[in-house]
Amino acid sequence: MSSTANPAPIQHFLEFNDLPKEDILYLLSRARFIKQRFKNYEPHMTLHDRTLAMVFEKASTRTRVSFEAGMYQMGGSVIHLTTNDSQLGRSEPIEDTARVISRMVDLVMIRTFGQERIELFAEHSRVPVINGLTNEYHPCQILADIFTFNEFRGPIADKTVAWIGDGNNMAYTWLQAAKLLGFKLHFSAPNGYGLDPDLIGDAGDALSVFEDPYEACRGAHLVTTDVWTSMGFEDENEARRKAFAHWCVNDEMMSLADTEALFMHCLPAHRGEEVTASVIDGPQSVVWDEAENRMHVQKALMEFLLLGKLD
Ligand code: CP
Ligand code: NVA
Repeated sequence: MSSTANPAPIQHFLEFNDLPKEDILYLLSRARFIKQRFKNYEPHMTLHDRTLAMVFEKASTRTRVSFEAGMYQMGGSVIHLTTNDSQLGRSEPIEDTARVISRMVDLVMIRTFGQERIELFAEHSRVPVINGLTNEYHPCQILADIFTFNEFRGPIADKTVAWIGDGNNMAYTWLQAAKLLGFKLHFSAPNGYGLDPDLIGDAGDALSVFEDPYEACRGAHLVTTDVWTSMGFEDENEARRKAFAHWCVNDEMMSLADTEALFMHCLPAHRGEEVTASVIDGPQSVVWDEAENRMHVQKALMEFLLLGKLD
């Protein structure tokens, strides 16, 4: 349990590039080890007596189950809070919530709206904070996606990932990962739904933007997409349905990609909108492994943030 004094610097994971490349590579390798133990029914209880608090200000299936199951499997325990069943729903400031929760637990995961909200929480937290999705980033998902790519196709460096759809939290995080790990991102979104130049900074040659989603897929080693309307943007649903009609990953797009190309989607998916059933349920899709791998990479992440690198 946390003591009241904690002089050591706290490592948070609020954005993918909060960790240097060597730490990301360590996490991917550690997750392989942890997953193997899980598959062999070998206990891996490195977080015995540790407590994770999860704060959800938006809905979740995968993030909740993967963190919760993962923490219990490592010998720890979990507290699950949502906006409406906590005082956050009655306007308690996020910084006061951070001060209180972080005196009682060892680690916090938050899913919320603007990135500034999780940054404020982290600023007032005595323990590491993990981003479980904000409007801007979804770093745990991209960690799982890269782990999944590694499992099926080896290193992602020098490969090409095609992003077909909204310039959202997933897209920004893919770009951070491309810059950090040395792969290329082909990005295609309808006009008005692209990436904000202020948020992407200098992308160098990591980013190529395509008006035509079919061209973005050409030669790609991984084709990926996400919902047309992310959580928090529901008011734009109708306008987005019209704007994104041409940004549906289909068999023709997959046929333009590399012959060995994989398809990924962070889920939940809407078949017939951002992806056809034939692609997401087809032979190139690895979405179920991708979802499962959330748990394995997050176990490695939680262990790393609390215990550092282990042999
Ligand atoms: N991919 C993902 O984060 O799923 P949930 O919204 O179900 O957590
Ligand atoms: N971009 C989606 C991802 C859901 C896991 C959203 O933010 O709703």
